[in-house]
Formats: sequence, C-alpha cells, structure tokens
Amino acid sequence: MNASPLQPAQGQSQGKAQGEGHTLYGGVTNRRVTVRDIAAAKQRGERWAMLTAYDALTAGVFDEAGIPVLLVGDSAGNCHLGYETTVPVTMDQMVMLSAAVVRGTKRALVIGDMPFGSYQESPAQAMHNAARLMKEAGVGAVKLEGGERSARSIELLVEAGIPVMAHIGLTPQSVHAFGGYPVQGRGDEAAHQLLRDAKAVQQAGAFAVVLEAVPAELAAQVTEQLAIPTVGIGAGVGTDAQVLVWTDMAGMTAGRVPKFVKQYANLRAVLGDAAREFAAEVGAGTFPAPEHTFK
Ligand code: KIV
Repeated sequence: MNASPLQPAQGQSQGKAQGEGHTLYGGVTNRRVTVRDIAAAKQRGERWAMLTAYDALTAGVFDEAGIPVLLVGDSAGNCHLGYETTVPVTMDQMVMLSAAVVRGTKRALVIGDMPFGSYQESPAQAMHNAARLMKEAGVGAVKLEGGERSARSIELLVEAGIPVMAHIGLTPQSVHAFGGYPVQGRGDEAAHQLLRDAKAVQQAGAFAVVLEAVPAELAAQVTEQLAIPTVGIGAGVGTDAQVLVWTDMAGMTAGRVPKFVKQYANLRAVLGDAAREFAAEVGAGTFPAPEHTFK
C-alpha cells in the first residue's frame, strides 16, 4: 500500500482538528480545497505538497493525482514561456495561464502569482491586479513576493477578501538586485530580517508563506514561530509544506536544476524518444499502419 503523503510532520503536535476527517489528500473530494483547509492542516500537523502548473492539461494530471494546491507561478516566464527570468512576465499572461489551470482542475486550490511590476507601485495597484486574477481567471488566492515591504498591500488585499500567500527569502523577481539566485538568510542580520519578514506577512493576514532558498535550520525556526503554514522550496524538511516547479520535478527542464530539486521522472527523455520514434516511422513508411487507417 502506498503511504499517504499526508503524514503528521515529525515533531509537530497533533492539533485539535485531529480526527475531524478532513485531510488535504483525499479528504476534500467534492469541492475545491480552500485556505481554511490549509489552516486546518497546520493545526493537525499535516504536511502537504504544492506544484506549479501553467496549463489546463498538466494541471488536470496533478489535480487527479491529489495535489491539493497548484501555483500558477510567474516561473512560467522561464519554465513555460521561454524567457530567461520571471521579470518580463505580464499580468495578461498570468491571467491567461491561471484561467487555464482553473479550467483544468476540479479540486485543487489554484493560486495565481502576481508578476513583477503588478503590485510594487502601491497597495491600490496590488488590489487592481489581484482582483483581475480573482475575477478574470477565477483563482482562489494570489501570491506576491516580499516581507515587510509588501505588508501594506497584503493587508489591503486580505481586507478586501482576497487570500494572499506571501513569498520571502530568495524572491526571483529581484534577480537583478541579488545578482543571481543566492541562498538567503545566512548570518545573524539576514536571519533576523527573514524572521521579521515572516512575522510581518503573518500580521498582515497572509494565509501562508513561501520560504525560498534559506538554510534548513532557519526555515524550521520560522515554521515553529508562525501560526500560518510555511511552504519550503530549498528550505529543508522542517517546513509545513513543500513546493517544486513541475518542469523541474518531472525532468522537463533542459540542463542543470537547482540543488534542492528532486527529479521524480524524466519526461524530457520520454517525450524526445516518442518524437524521434514518430519521425523515424514516418520516414520508414511504417506509420500510419493499417490499424490507424480508415478503410
Ligand atoms: O513562480 C514560482 O513558481 C514560485 C515558486 C517557486 C514558489 O514562486
């Protein structure tokens, strides 16, 4: 029998919701997962998985597999749309991709990422663009980068009824300021800043926070000190949830992937082989065969 991926996290207490029978994996089958389910999972000490998705077809596969939360990440920029970074991604693109993921799923909570330049100007700008993702794409929540610097915008969105996932640590939209993708939170001052950022987004009303590329020990400390779930990527095993970019974890990415990625499949090789075999059979005249042919 397969072990449920939703085991109580080691060292986390069994909260009061234990025994209610609502688990993120398999428990919520006749409706979409909501941010309340996510909050209850933290209470129960349940770990959960999040994947990115950028289209209806792939999102449907992950939904059927029981992944409870799908992020339409602006990683679509480099993983789906062919840009080098996430910086060029536009609101119109995020609305289109998010709407496709919503259409392709029945159960997952779909979170739409707010791209660079769509919320940094002012809380009013954040509100305008988050509302587009909710109304035009139909997502159940939005995500934006930044800790203390984004707290006012998070507060406004949450007041307006928009669930917000925050994202701190390595924030890829700041790639040019960081000069690459360095691990964050190393050293006392940086660690204290990460903790301040985490508390600021919780205080502002975020329902969860992504911790990207931070030392495992620090991520575990942040997780212990927050009431909202932490979602780790390159942050060790001590967070409440884990997220991976689907093209990385399924082996679609060409070339090197970050150290924190585990490849669970090699789809790039599988697809490449299928394409080569198809082309070879067409060249040899063995496709289409009689069984693929109308008489
Ligand atoms: O855009 C994205 O895919 C993300 C995840 C890596 C968290 O922000």
